[in-house]
Amino acid sequence: MNEQPPTIAILGAGIFVRTQYIPRLSEIAHLVLVKYIWSRSQESAEEAVGVARKHFPQVEAKWGESGLDEIILDASILGVAVVLAGQTQVDISLKLLKAGKHVLQEKPAAASVREAETALSCYNSICAKVPGQPIWAVAENYRFEPAFVESKKLMAEIGDMMNIQVIVEGSMNSSNPYFSSTWRRNFTGGFVLDMGVHFIAGLRMLVGSEVDSVSATTSHVDASLPPPDIISSLFQLENGCSGVFVMVVSSKSPKIVWRIVGLNGTLQVERGNKEGKHGYLVSLSTADGQTKNSFYPFCGVTEELKAFIHDISHAALQKDSTYEAEPRSSFIEGARDIAVLEAMLESGMKQGIQVKVQRV
Ligand SMILES: *[C@@H]1O[C@H](CO)[C@@H](O)[C@H](O)[C@H]1NC(C)=O
Ligand SMILES: *[C@@H]1O[C@H](CO)[C@@H](O)[C@H](O)[C@H]1NC(C)=O
Ligand SMILES: *[C@@H]1O[C@H](CO)[C@@H](O)[C@H](O)[C@H]1NC(C)=O
Repeated sequence: MNEQPPTIAILGAGIFVRTQYIPRLSEIAHLVLVKYIWSRSQESAEEAVGVARKHFPQVEAKWGESGLDEIILDASILGVAVVLAGQTQVDISLKLLKAGKHVLQEKPAAASVREAETALSCYNSICAKVPGQPIWAVAENYRFEPAFVESKKLMAEIGDMMNIQVIVEGSMNSSNPYFSSTWRRNFTGGFVLDMGVHFIAGLRMLVGSEVDSVSATTSHVDASLPPPDIISSLFQLENGCSGVFVMVVSSKSPKIVWRIVGLNGTLQVERGNKEGKHGYLVSLSTADGQTKNSFYPFCGVTEELKAFIHDISHAALQKDSTYEAEPRSSFIEGARDIAVLEAMLESGMKQGIQVKVQRV
């Protein structure tokens, strides 16, 4: 095993790159080589490079259009992490894919279902032309959290699903580093879409059935946040089970819980802390009156990065055949999460009429 680890570039030098991408990639620096960090401005690219240099001594800053072109032309770059404003990510991802680079794009996958569908048909035509089938992965990380991976297995024990509750009381206040994020405030759906895709991803993964239709009331109460900041929605799954999805973007007492009531038991996944670590408490209550609790610390971002690195290394080895990339990161999964929220937002604008979720 004396092969070189795959070489990647990071586009973006914002909060999430500095607080997640660089530290998490540093922990797996034996698996990957970060060669460039790019930003629109020289200053922020160099600042992020300063943070990353300790673990990736050869990392270089690139900026502006010409810097982006240099990354595209560098044949040693196998994959690119796109961690930019939601409004620009899809265009830049497609540009990289066209150049044959594998892409791990941050969520949300797109700004709307329409943008996602146009992007997908563009991607399919790129795949038909570009040899080596560039991978387009979307980083939403929840599908990689061990709490969800393990809970999905426990679903068999609760028997037929009867009802689902997803309650999200978020904490997007002025202490949160993303609170002043300009692009999130100027994005259709604002924080609801940007944060909400995670909670829908968790729901869809647990229940293993698509959301078929929704009926929602949306409102705007906290004037420090863009509208809407509250969603109360009923939903129905394709398997016939119904549930509620409640999201309050900012509350004083945060709580995030998925609860699935089945004929033979109840499964609950709740955000919490244990021994100073943030993660999820999973509780399974069964018909015999027993409750089993397990705590899983967060590590979804690391798992997702590892999956992408594994995929691009293996795809590079099998250039001629079609490599099956990790399905949990696929662009389609990210687009389906958006479709559910978009349906809720549309229903909210139309006084709660029932809206069918668009099938992507
Ligand atoms: C649910 O409980 C019933 C009665 O106890 C049992 O017959 C059935 O096998 C259980 N189903 C599952 C999925 O565990
Ligand atoms: C924001 O929410 C966090 C988490 O609930 C809390 O610790 C912090 O005090 C809040 N900040 C403000 C300004 O309300
Ligand atoms: C907000 O978004 C619109 C449409 O995407 C764009 O034209 C405008 O420049 C953006 N404004 C800011 C302040 O980013």
